[in-house]
Amino acid sequence: MKREDLPFLVDLKGRVIVVTGAGGVICSELAKALGACGAKVAYVDWNLEAAQAKVAEANKEGYFAEAFKCNVLSKEDLAECHRQINAKLGRVDILINGAGGNSPKATTTDEYLGEKVGDDVIDFFGLKQEGVEWVFNLNFLGTFLTTQEFAKDMLNRKGCSILNISSMNAFTPLTKIPAYSAAKAGITNFTEWLAVYFAKSGIRVNAIAPGFFSTIQNKELLFNKDGTPTARTGKILAATPMGRFGEVKELIGATLFLCNESGASFITGVTLPIDGGFSSYSGV
Ligand SMILES: NC(=O)c1ccc[n+]([C@@H]2O[C@H](COP(=O)([O-])OP(=O)(O)OC[C@H]3O[C@@H](n4cnc5c(N)ncnc54)[C@H](O)[C@@H]3O)[C@@H](O)[C@H]2O)c1
Repeated sequence: MKREDLPFLVDLKGRVIVVTGAGGVICSELAKALGACGAKVAYVDWNLEAAQAKVAEANKEGYFAEAFKCNVLSKEDLAECHRQINAKLGRVDILINGAGGNSPKATTTDEYLGEKVGDDVIDFFGLKQEGVEWVFNLNFLGTFLTTQEFAKDMLNRKGCSILNISSMNAFTPLTKIPAYSAAKAGITNFTEWLAVYFAKSGIRVNAIAPGFFSTIQNKELLFNKDGTPTARTGKILAATPMGRFGEVKELIGATLFLCNESGASFITGVTLPIDGGFSSYSGV
Protein backbone atom coordinates (compact mmCIF):
# COMPACT_ATOMS: atom_id res chain seq x y z
CA MET A 1 0.00 0.00 0.00
CA LYS A 2 1.44 3.31 -1.06
CA ARG A 3 1.26 6.57 0.87
CA GLU A 4 -1.00 8.06 -1.81
CA ASP A 5 -3.54 5.29 -1.13
CA LEU A 6 -3.95 6.60 2.42
CA PRO A 7 -6.44 9.46 2.45
CA PHE A 8 -4.72 11.27 5.29
CA LEU A 9 -1.94 10.60 7.72
CA VAL A 10 -2.96 9.09 11.02
CA ASP A 11 -0.44 8.23 13.68
CA LEU A 12 -1.26 4.81 15.15
CA LYS A 13 2.31 3.99 16.06
CA GLY A 14 2.46 1.14 18.55
CA ARG A 15 -1.33 0.84 18.92
CA VAL A 16 -2.53 -2.76 19.09
CA ILE A 17 -5.47 -3.33 16.73
CA VAL A 18 -7.53 -6.49 16.38
CA VAL A 19 -9.28 -6.94 13.04
CA THR A 20 -11.64 -9.92 12.71
CA GLY A 21 -12.33 -11.26 9.23
CA ALA A 22 -8.92 -9.94 8.22
CA GLY A 23 -8.40 -12.85 5.83
CA GLY A 24 -11.23 -11.41 3.72
CA VAL A 25 -11.47 -8.81 0.99
CA ILE A 26 -12.47 -5.68 2.91
CA CYS A 27 -10.87 -6.20 6.31
CA SER A 28 -7.48 -7.19 4.91
CA GLU A 29 -7.34 -3.80 3.16
CA LEU A 30 -8.40 -1.99 6.32
CA ALA A 31 -5.84 -3.97 8.34
CA LYS A 32 -3.09 -3.10 5.90
CA ALA A 33 -3.94 0.61 6.06
CA LEU A 34 -3.81 0.48 9.86
CA GLY A 35 -0.41 -1.20 9.61
CA ALA A 36 0.77 1.53 7.23
CA CYS A 37 -0.13 4.03 9.98
CA GLY A 38 2.22 2.27 12.40
CA ALA A 39 -0.18 -0.01 14.27
CA LYS A 40 0.55 -3.57 15.39
CA VAL A 41 -2.29 -5.42 13.72
CA ALA A 42 -3.69 -8.82 14.72
CA TYR A 43 -5.31 -10.45 11.67
CA VAL A 44 -7.98 -12.67 13.25
CA ASP A 45 -9.85 -15.16 11.08
CA TRP A 46 -11.02 -18.76 11.33
CA ASN A 47 -9.39 -19.28 7.96
CA LEU A 48 -5.79 -19.12 9.19
CA GLU A 49 -4.27 -19.65 5.72
CA ALA A 50 -6.22 -16.66 4.35
CA ALA A 51 -5.10 -14.47 7.27
CA GLN A 52 -1.49 -15.64 6.91
CA ALA A 53 -1.49 -14.79 3.20
CA LYS A 54 -2.70 -11.26 3.96
CA VAL A 55 -0.17 -10.92 6.77
CA ALA A 56 2.62 -11.94 4.40
CA GLU A 57 1.55 -9.14 2.01
CA ALA A 58 1.57 -6.60 4.85
CA ASN A 59 4.91 -7.82 6.23
CA LYS A 60 6.41 -7.52 2.75
CA GLU A 61 5.54 -3.83 2.80
CA GLY A 62 7.22 -3.48 6.20
CA TYR A 63 4.10 -3.38 8.38
CA PHE A 64 3.66 -5.14 11.73
CA ALA A 65 1.06 -7.86 11.21
CA GLU A 66 0.45 -11.24 12.78
CA ALA A 67 -2.20 -13.88 12.00
CA PHE A 68 -4.38 -15.59 14.63
CA LYS A 69 -6.84 -18.45 14.08
CA CYS A 70 -10.15 -17.87 15.85
CA ASN A 71 -13.84 -18.60 15.39
CA VAL A 72 -15.58 -15.45 16.59
CA LEU A 73 -18.55 -17.59 17.67
CA SER A 74 -16.50 -19.60 20.15
CA LYS A 75 -15.88 -18.04 23.54
CA GLU A 76 -13.01 -20.50 24.12
CA ASP A 77 -11.35 -19.51 20.83
CA LEU A 78 -11.78 -15.83 21.61
CA ALA A 79 -10.26 -16.18 25.09
CA GLU A 80 -7.27 -18.12 23.73
CA CYS A 81 -6.80 -15.69 20.85
CA HIS A 82 -6.94 -12.78 23.31
CA ARG A 83 -4.27 -14.44 25.47
CA GLN A 84 -1.99 -14.93 22.45
CA ILE A 85 -2.48 -11.36 21.20
CA ASN A 86 -1.69 -9.93 24.64
CA ALA A 87 1.46 -12.06 24.83
CA LYS A 88 2.72 -11.22 21.33
CA LEU A 89 1.41 -7.70 20.65
CA GLY A 90 0.31 -6.27 24.00
CA ARG A 91 -2.95 -4.84 25.34
CA VAL A 92 -5.63 -4.19 22.71
CA ASP A 93 -6.43 -0.52 21.93
CA ILE A 94 -8.77 -0.81 18.97
CA LEU A 95 -11.11 -3.55 17.70
CA ILE A 96 -12.62 -3.84 14.24
CA ASN A 97 -15.46 -6.38 14.10
CA GLY A 98 -15.24 -7.33 10.44
CA ALA A 99 -16.14 -11.03 10.29
CA GLY A 100 -19.54 -11.21 8.63
CA GLY A 101 -21.44 -12.31 5.57
CA ASN A 102 -24.61 -13.80 4.12
CA SER A 103 -25.72 -17.37 3.28
CA PRO A 104 -27.65 -18.72 0.27
CA LYS A 105 -29.79 -20.62 2.82
CA ALA A 106 -31.11 -17.28 4.06
CA THR A 107 -31.65 -15.79 0.60
CA THR A 108 -34.86 -15.89 -1.43
CA THR A 109 -34.68 -16.22 -5.21
CA ASP A 110 -37.73 -13.97 -5.65
CA GLU A 111 -38.07 -10.29 -4.84
CA TYR A 112 -41.87 -10.38 -4.54
CA LEU A 113 -44.03 -13.34 -3.49
CA GLY A 114 -45.41 -15.09 -6.56
CA GLU A 115 -42.76 -13.72 -8.91
CA LYS A 116 -41.78 -16.22 -11.63
CA VAL A 117 -38.01 -16.67 -11.36
CA GLY A 118 -37.43 -20.13 -12.84
CA ASP A 119 -38.18 -23.65 -11.60
CA ASP A 120 -36.34 -23.76 -8.26
CA VAL A 121 -37.97 -20.86 -6.47
CA ILE A 122 -36.98 -20.33 -2.85
CA ASP A 123 -39.44 -17.87 -1.42
CA PHE A 124 -39.76 -16.54 2.12
CA PHE A 125 -41.59 -19.69 3.23
CA GLY A 126 -38.75 -21.88 1.98
CA LEU A 127 -35.95 -20.20 3.92
CA LYS A 128 -34.21 -22.54 6.34
CA GLN A 129 -33.99 -21.81 10.07
CA GLU A 130 -30.36 -22.98 10.03
CA GLY A 131 -29.51 -20.40 7.33
CA VAL A 132 -31.15 -17.57 9.26
CA GLU A 133 -29.41 -18.64 12.48
CA TRP A 134 -26.05 -18.86 10.69
CA VAL A 135 -26.36 -15.30 9.38
CA PHE A 136 -27.55 -13.86 12.70
CA ASN A 137 -24.87 -15.69 14.63
CA LEU A 138 -21.99 -14.64 12.41
CA ASN A 139 -22.96 -11.00 11.97
CA PHE A 140 -24.53 -10.18 15.33
CA LEU A 141 -23.31 -12.69 17.88
CA GLY A 142 -19.80 -12.69 16.36
CA THR A 143 -19.58 -8.95 17.00
CA PHE A 144 -21.19 -9.25 20.45
CA LEU A 145 -18.91 -12.01 21.78
CA THR A 146 -15.73 -10.52 20.28
CA THR A 147 -16.50 -7.18 21.90
CA GLN A 148 -17.15 -8.86 25.26
CA GLU A 149 -13.71 -10.40 25.04
CA PHE A 150 -11.50 -7.58 23.76
CA ALA A 151 -13.21 -4.49 25.23
CA LYS A 152 -11.92 -5.59 28.66
CA ASP A 153 -8.46 -4.38 27.59
CA MET A 154 -9.77 -0.93 26.71
CA LEU A 155 -11.67 0.05 29.84
CA ASN A 156 -10.71 3.41 31.34
CA ARG A 157 -7.76 4.02 29.01
CA LYS A 158 -7.30 6.84 26.53
CA GLY A 159 -7.76 6.50 22.78
CA CYS A 160 -9.57 3.17 22.64
CA SER A 161 -12.33 2.47 20.17
CA ILE A 162 -14.41 -0.17 18.43
CA LEU A 163 -15.51 -0.11 14.81
CA ASN A 164 -18.31 -2.40 13.64
CA ILE A 165 -19.11 -3.20 10.03
CA SER A 166 -22.76 -2.59 9.27
CA SER A 167 -24.21 -2.30 5.75
CA MET A 168 -26.64 -0.42 3.54
CA ASN A 169 -29.18 -3.10 4.47
CA ALA A 170 -29.28 -1.70 7.97
CA PHE A 171 -31.16 1.44 6.87
CA THR A 172 -33.48 -0.07 4.24
CA PRO A 173 -33.48 -3.84 3.69
CA LEU A 174 -32.42 -5.11 0.30
CA THR A 175 -34.65 -7.62 -1.48
CA LYS A 176 -33.86 -11.35 -1.11
CA ILE A 177 -31.72 -11.13 2.05
CA PRO A 178 -34.00 -10.66 5.07
CA ALA A 179 -31.70 -12.25 7.66
CA TYR A 180 -28.57 -10.38 6.59
CA SER A 181 -30.51 -7.10 6.48
CA ALA A 182 -31.97 -7.61 9.95
CA ALA A 183 -28.63 -8.73 11.39
CA LYS A 184 -26.86 -5.61 10.05
CA ALA A 185 -29.71 -3.43 11.37
CA GLY A 186 -28.92 -5.15 14.68
CA ILE A 187 -25.28 -4.12 14.32
CA THR A 188 -26.19 -0.47 13.85
CA ASN A 189 -28.51 -0.64 16.86
CA PHE A 190 -25.89 -2.47 18.96
CA THR A 191 -23.28 0.15 17.97
CA GLU A 192 -25.50 2.82 19.50
CA TRP A 193 -26.16 0.74 22.60
CA LEU A 194 -22.47 0.06 23.17
CA ALA A 195 -21.55 3.70 22.54
CA VAL A 196 -23.81 4.75 25.39
CA TYR A 197 -22.75 1.89 27.64
CA PHE A 198 -19.02 2.59 27.26
CA ALA A 199 -19.28 6.40 27.08
CA LYS A 200 -17.94 6.88 30.61
CA SER A 201 -15.34 4.13 30.25
CA GLY A 202 -13.17 5.71 27.55
CA ILE A 203 -14.27 3.56 24.61
CA ARG A 204 -15.83 5.12 21.52
CA VAL A 205 -17.97 2.79 19.39
CA ASN A 206 -18.86 3.52 15.78
CA ALA A 207 -19.68 1.66 12.57
CA ILE A 208 -19.26 2.02 8.84
CA ALA A 209 -22.01 0.98 6.43
CA PRO A 210 -20.50 0.06 3.08
CA GLY A 211 -22.77 0.31 0.06
CA PHE A 212 -22.00 -1.67 -3.06
CA PHE A 213 -18.43 -2.63 -3.69
CA SER A 214 -17.24 -4.63 -6.64
CA THR A 215 -14.96 -7.36 -5.30
CA ILE A 216 -13.62 -10.60 -6.76
CA GLN A 217 -16.28 -12.57 -4.86
CA ASN A 218 -19.35 -10.78 -6.16
CA LYS A 219 -17.97 -10.18 -9.67
CA GLU A 220 -20.06 -13.00 -11.17
CA LEU A 221 -23.24 -11.65 -9.57
CA LEU A 222 -22.61 -8.16 -10.82
CA PHE A 223 -21.14 -8.71 -14.29
CA ASN A 224 -21.80 -11.16 -17.13
CA LYS A 225 -18.89 -13.10 -18.62
CA ASP A 226 -18.54 -10.50 -21.40
CA GLY A 227 -18.14 -7.74 -18.81
CA THR A 228 -21.61 -6.24 -19.32
CA PRO A 229 -23.58 -5.53 -16.13
CA THR A 230 -26.23 -8.01 -14.88
CA ALA A 231 -29.82 -6.88 -14.28
CA ARG A 232 -29.15 -6.50 -10.52
CA THR A 233 -26.12 -4.34 -11.29
CA GLY A 234 -28.28 -2.10 -13.44
CA LYS A 235 -30.69 -1.62 -10.52
CA ILE A 236 -27.87 -0.96 -8.06
CA LEU A 237 -26.19 1.62 -10.24
CA ALA A 238 -29.50 3.33 -11.02
CA ALA A 239 -30.07 3.65 -7.26
CA THR A 240 -26.58 4.99 -6.60
CA PRO A 241 -26.46 8.70 -7.40
CA MET A 242 -22.71 8.55 -8.05
CA GLY A 243 -23.44 5.90 -10.68
CA ARG A 244 -20.66 3.45 -9.86
CA PHE A 245 -19.51 0.79 -7.41
CA GLY A 246 -17.20 1.73 -4.58
CA GLU A 247 -13.62 0.55 -4.42
CA VAL A 248 -12.51 -1.15 -1.22
CA LYS A 249 -9.79 1.47 -0.68
CA GLU A 250 -12.59 4.05 -0.37
CA LEU A 251 -13.45 2.54 3.03
CA ILE A 252 -10.04 3.36 4.44
CA GLY A 253 -10.51 7.10 5.07
CA ALA A 254 -13.57 6.63 7.28
CA THR A 255 -11.96 3.72 9.11
CA LEU A 256 -8.82 5.65 10.00
CA PHE A 257 -10.85 8.70 10.94
CA LEU A 258 -13.29 6.88 13.23
CA CYS A 259 -10.69 4.65 14.89
CA ASN A 260 -8.23 7.41 15.62
CA GLU A 261 -8.72 9.53 18.72
CA SER A 262 -7.29 12.79 17.42
CA GLY A 263 -9.92 13.54 14.77
CA ALA A 264 -12.93 11.71 16.17
CA SER A 265 -12.56 12.12 19.94
CA PHE A 266 -16.18 13.30 20.41
CA ILE A 267 -17.74 10.92 17.89
CA THR A 268 -19.43 7.83 19.24
CA GLY A 269 -22.52 5.86 18.24
CA VAL A 270 -22.58 6.77 14.54
CA THR A 271 -22.94 4.48 11.56
CA LEU A 272 -21.34 6.20 8.61
CA PRO A 273 -22.68 5.27 5.16
CA ILE A 274 -20.03 4.91 2.48
CA ASP A 275 -22.30 4.35 -0.46
CA GLY A 276 -22.08 6.95 -3.22
CA GLY A 277 -25.39 8.42 -2.01
CA PHE A 278 -27.42 5.16 -2.15
CA SER A 279 -28.98 5.63 1.30
CA SER A 280 -29.96 9.25 0.57
CA TYR A 281 -31.74 8.60 -2.72
CA SER A 282 -35.48 7.95 -2.93
CA GLY A 283 -35.21 6.89 -6.55
CA VAL A 284 -36.99 10.02 -7.82
N1 LIG B 1 -18.52 -6.89 0.32
C1 LIG B 1 -19.41 -5.93 0.44
O1 LIG B 1 -19.84 -5.31 -0.54
C2 LIG B 1 -19.93 -5.56 1.82
C3 LIG B 1 -20.91 -4.55 1.93
C4 LIG B 1 -21.39 -4.21 3.20
C5 LIG B 1 -20.88 -4.83 4.33
N2 LIG B 1 -19.95 -5.82 4.19
C6 LIG B 1 -19.44 -6.42 5.43
O2 LIG B 1 -18.03 -6.23 5.47
C7 LIG B 1 -17.43 -7.29 6.20
C8 LIG B 1 -16.34 -7.94 5.35
O3 LIG B 1 -16.93 -8.39 4.16
P1 LIG B 1 -16.07 -9.01 2.94
O4 LIG B 1 -16.83 -8.72 1.70
O5 LIG B 1 -14.66 -8.57 3.05
O6 LIG B 1 -16.23 -10.56 3.26
P2 LIG B 1 -15.18 -11.75 3.07
O7 LIG B 1 -16.01 -12.97 2.94
O8 LIG B 1 -14.17 -11.44 2.02
O9 LIG B 1 -14.44 -11.77 4.47
C9 LIG B 1 -15.03 -12.27 5.64
C10 LIG B 1 -13.95 -12.97 6.44
O10 LIG B 1 -14.54 -13.37 7.68
C11 LIG B 1 -14.05 -14.67 8.00
N3 LIG B 1 -15.01 -15.35 8.87
C12 LIG B 1 -16.23 -15.83 8.54
N4 LIG B 1 -16.79 -16.43 9.60
C13 LIG B 1 -15.90 -16.33 10.62
C14 LIG B 1 -15.90 -16.77 11.98
N5 LIG B 1 -16.96 -17.42 12.51
N6 LIG B 1 -14.83 -16.49 12.72
C15 LIG B 1 -13.77 -15.83 12.22
N7 LIG B 1 -13.69 -15.41 10.95
C16 LIG B 1 -14.76 -15.65 10.16
C17 LIG B 1 -13.91 -15.38 6.65
O11 LIG B 1 -13.01 -16.47 6.73
C18 LIG B 1 -13.42 -14.24 5.76
O12 LIG B 1 -12.01 -14.20 5.69
C19 LIG B 1 -18.57 -8.24 6.57
O13 LIG B 1 -19.03 -7.92 7.87
C20 LIG B 1 -19.63 -7.93 5.55
O14 LIG B 1 -20.89 -8.28 6.01
C21 LIG B 1 -19.47 -6.19 2.97
